[in-house]
Amino acid sequence: MSDARPEALVPTLYRRIRPWLFRADPEVAHHRALDAARIGGEALAAAAGIGIRLAPPSSPRLSQRLAGIDFPNPIGLAAGFDKNGVAAHLWPALGFGFAELGTVTTLGQAGNPTPRLFRLPEDEALVNRLGFNNQGVEIVARRLERSLRTRPAIPIGLNIGASRVHVGDAEKELADYRESTRRLGRLCDYLVINVSSPNTPGLRDLQEPGRLARLVETVQQQLVHLGLGISIPPVFVKLSPDLPDEGIPPICAAALAAGAAGFIATNTTLSRVGLRGEAQGEQGGLSGAPLRERSNEVIARIRFLVGPDVPIIGIGGVSRLADVVDKFRAGADLVGLYSALVYEGPLLARRLALDLDRELRARGLASVRDLIGNGERAVHASN
Ligand code: FNR
Repeated sequence: MSDARPEALVPTLYRRIRPWLFRADPEVAHHRALDAARIGGEALAAAAGIGIRLAPPSSPRLSQRLAGIDFPNPIGLAAGFDKNGVAAHLWPALGFGFAELGTVTTLGQAGNPTPRLFRLPEDEALVNRLGFNNQGVEIVARRLERSLRTRPAIPIGLNIGASRVHVGDAEKELADYRESTRRLGRLCDYLVINVSSPNTPGLRDLQEPGRLARLVETVQQQLVHLGLGISIPPVFVKLSPDLPDEGIPPICAAALAAGAAGFIATNTTLSRVGLRGEAQGEQGGLSGAPLRERSNEVIARIRFLVGPDVPIIGIGGVSRLADVVDKFRAGADLVGLYSALVYEGPLLARRLALDLDRELRARGLASVRDLIGNGERAVHASN
């Protein structure tokens, strides 16, 4: 008998319409998807205002409390899809257990010239060099002040980066992150310092331990100034997969000493190893399946270093249940995804959360936490 659950039917339907969707330019297709998401998100925000909130799949096996935040399930939306925070209320309805909005910069910016987003279907990958196109913190903050008056059923992370024209001037960089923190700090459940996008020249230099420590301290001080008391949001640092292995420990140590609560690993890569897709020669950050292994290695290295209590959100090439399980084995507490949405369709998160719950039950495991590795095997295997 065929499986009639929506999360089982939609991928089949999606695969049938995908060739038609892929005829459109990738960024045009993205804007169409986002327009639909915005309309859905606004309707669901209105529904939330009268007490109707669509919650994602959850169970005692899937839910976790990390950094003081309750996550109904561990499958999240990675940053970059909803850069301007237009659809905060839609993401739980699609099954996501958390959503990271942004990257937002203090100044609104157009980003790089188009074309700047490319599909590599043979590799289940994307290359993008968008360059932090976003409306700027003021517009995004005002939008979120309205839409988040009623909180969605999931934690919302806000990801902040430096405005392009400020990168390279240390004081202006700090002022930029400070201002974004001032406007967004009270609106999010967690704040993400993005120092790892490859598309803003010089941004990744902020991963240098001394500079990162100063940046994390600046953001923390600004959060304290907001006077939020115990609801001060934890700060995560999002790292690049292109860091050399030996560079990871000093960066993590500096971030933690400066007050970071956890890490997000990883952003997109500049590497182009083993690709088949035509667009592999395009400049920009590569995401999707080819990033999976390196992202898992970075997660394992961080986990090995920080021990079991520092939360890690593992991102990079998550598309199937096995990828989710591998991220936990590497040491992630939560996983995020972006590229696979393009290839698998809008209900992917819901399907992964339900499949994960079924898998945990079948293995007789009480919690997703029983899958989480300590990073040791992966680190030793690659040494
Ligand atoms: C991204 N990503 C990203 N990350 C970030 O911190 N801020 C951003 O603005 C963006 N923008 C963005 C745009 C596009 C088109 C893509 C494909 C990706 C990176 C994203 O959050 C994630 O870290 C990587 O894409 C790896 O995950 P996936 O795509 O392999 O699941």
